[in-house]
Amino acid sequence: TWKMDSFVENTVRALREKIGDGKVLCALSGGVDSSVAAVMLAKAVGRQLTCVFVDHGLLRKNESEEVSAVFGPDGPYDLNFVRVDARQRFYDKLAGVEEPENKRKIIGQEFIRVFEEEAKKIGRVDFLVQGTIYPDVVESGFGGESTVIKSHHNVGGLPDYVDFKEIVEPLRDLFKDEVRKAGRELGIPEYLVNRQPFPGPGLAIRIIGEVTPEKIKMVQDADAIYREEIANAGIADELGQYFAALTNMRSVGVMGDERTYDYAIALRAVTTTDFMTAESAQIPWEVLGKVTSRIVNEVPHINRVLYDCTGKPPATIEWE
Ligand code: XMP
Repeated sequence: TWKMDSFVENTVRALREKIGDGKVLCALSGGVDSSVAAVMLAKAVGRQLTCVFVDHGLLRKNESEEVSAVFGPDGPYDLNFVRVDARQRFYDKLAGVEEPENKRKIIGQEFIRVFEEEAKKIGRVDFLVQGTIYPDVVESGFGGESTVIKSHHNVGGLPDYVDFKEIVEPLRDLFKDEVRKAGRELGIPEYLVNRQPFPGPGLAIRIIGEVTPEKIKMVQDADAIYREEIANAGIADELGQYFAALTNMRSVGVMGDERTYDYAIALRAVTTTDFMTAESAQIPWEVLGKVTSRIVNEVPHINRVLYDCTGKPPATIEWE
């Protein structure tokens, strides 16, 4: 029978043999796949591994701290962890940019630049870790999407700009639920193991139009409230993905005796099997009501909350 503990044990042993005394580089995104891959490598070769975590300032609330707590010097694993605070760099590049594909391209390019700079500082790299899982292998091997709807930014696309000998992909044979199991087996905290998919360009594609630090803060705070209430309601497991997006629309409201002219937040939640198609999830009205009143009360400059009832197609899951 399939045993996760023996998978982990065998893989760690095989990695150790393969890598010998080589140096290993891993781009850590904080997502499930890269986190589990990184911990396997840490178990196998310890300080021969360097994990680079680029904080592009487009992460969810507290995410940068959460990743650093697990992989940083105060965490349980023995590895070299580099957190690059690139927030300002990304904000500068994104200033004034409104078009979704431009935003994606700028973020992808800047990510590569930052990562390349860090790789140079490390010097010799023999192996590059990729968190590729089985569905990624199948998708790229047998066609995948024929029309480019969005240019996907992924930590997966690194190989051509870092000089290394070989790629290691310890999760290549696993499905997502098996990756999560392996993660638990390795002692990775539940908030990382259970993390829902999060796009490479981060919150930039959940803010319609120009990205500013103020708007990032709004969407982070609204999203954190939404996630907290979904968890409180105990419905997270039924949903494929759920998040808040900041529309670029302002509308008139009233607060006390004052007229307001502020932003609208959109709540998205979908059920899906493969993320290629999705249905808008029927979140209980009481939950939406609670989330709405908390957002308008707790997040400055939001005076309206909308629920996205659209399936994919015709909408995509993300808003850009
Ligand atoms: P869409 O919005 O196209 O998204 O319906 C389908 C799934 O892909 C995720 N997504 C991305 N993931 N890099 C990623 O790693 C990206 O650039 C990217 N864009 C979208 C999205 O969150 C959803 O799960």
